[in-house]
Amino acid sequence: MKHVVAAKKILQARGLSKHYGGVVALDSVDLDLREGEVLAIVGDNGAGKSTLVKALTGAIVKTSGSVLIDGRETRIDNPADAKAAGMETVYQDLALVNEISITKNMFLGREIIKDTLIGRLFGVLDFPKMDAKIRDLFEKLDIRITDIYRDAEAFSGGQRQAVALSKTVMFGKRIAILDEPTAALGVRESKMAMDLVSSLKDHGLSVIMITHNMQHVLNYCDRVVVMRLGKVAAVCDVAEVDGDTLVGLITGAIEKRQGR
Ligand SMILES: Nc1ncnc2c1ncn2[C@@H]1O[C@H](COP(=O)(O)OP(=O)(O)O)[C@@H](O)[C@H]1O
Ligand SMILES: [Mg+2]
Repeated sequence: MKHVVAAKKILQARGLSKHYGGVVALDSVDLDLREGEVLAIVGDNGAGKSTLVKALTGAIVKTSGSVLIDGRETRIDNPADAKAAGMETVYQDLALVNEISITKNMFLGREIIKDTLIGRLFGVLDFPKMDAKIRDLFEKLDIRITDIYRDAEAFSGGQRQAVALSKTVMFGKRIAILDEPTAALGVRESKMAMDLVSSLKDHGLSVIMITHNMQHVLNYCDRVVVMRLGKVAAVCDVAEVDGDTLVGLITGAIEKRQGR
């Protein structure tokens, strides 16, 4: 959807850099995430996409630069800081623990304890409550998984990714950061995961998504940041680019361009 008025910037990076010895993985990157948009990050292997996301979410120590949330400079020095600031990161395959149920995966580290004396004393988990919340959420998000007691490994890649993505909604996160959410998925599964990414928007989230899939950029994203050699090579409105232009910007065949 196009907006004429300037949307609020929920997350901003200013001058983010990361050096590994002599390697400049990230070179003074500025980035704005607008409220309610899906922002794609594209670029060749080694362009600095993952480093950018890790610097934003405190997964690595930045060499320099700052992060602003709602326009205010916010210290994000580790993943706990990122969580507290409303960010949830989903990686392509580390999203779920194989050997435990969907319910346990959903509430891992955030379990609901039975609200009784015994429950509070002994930390008894309230499975009926957790299950009800999950079923409710899955229905809202149109995720068709009913067998939530089964171990995560019993489900397809697309279903697992859907579960991982739904956690961002369950825990009231404002910003979802996805590093190649469909890299391990087939065509049908990818579509399911991308439809879910779109529905995150309807639930009030703003999304940053690294992807190699230009069709996903064109079909599901609002704006796209093109990274090249650790720098931002271009920022484009998706409505104003095509796949060939994006590929040209990624490879460097088309020179730097700054859109809106
Ligand atoms: N832990 C690390 N140690 C040394 N160099 C790294 C490390 N992580 C990334 N790099 C380098 O930083 C650059 C950007 O990497 P990365 O952000 O992973 O790129 P992308 O995600 O776009 O493929 C590459 O040249 C990569 O080799
Ligand atoms: Mg990467």
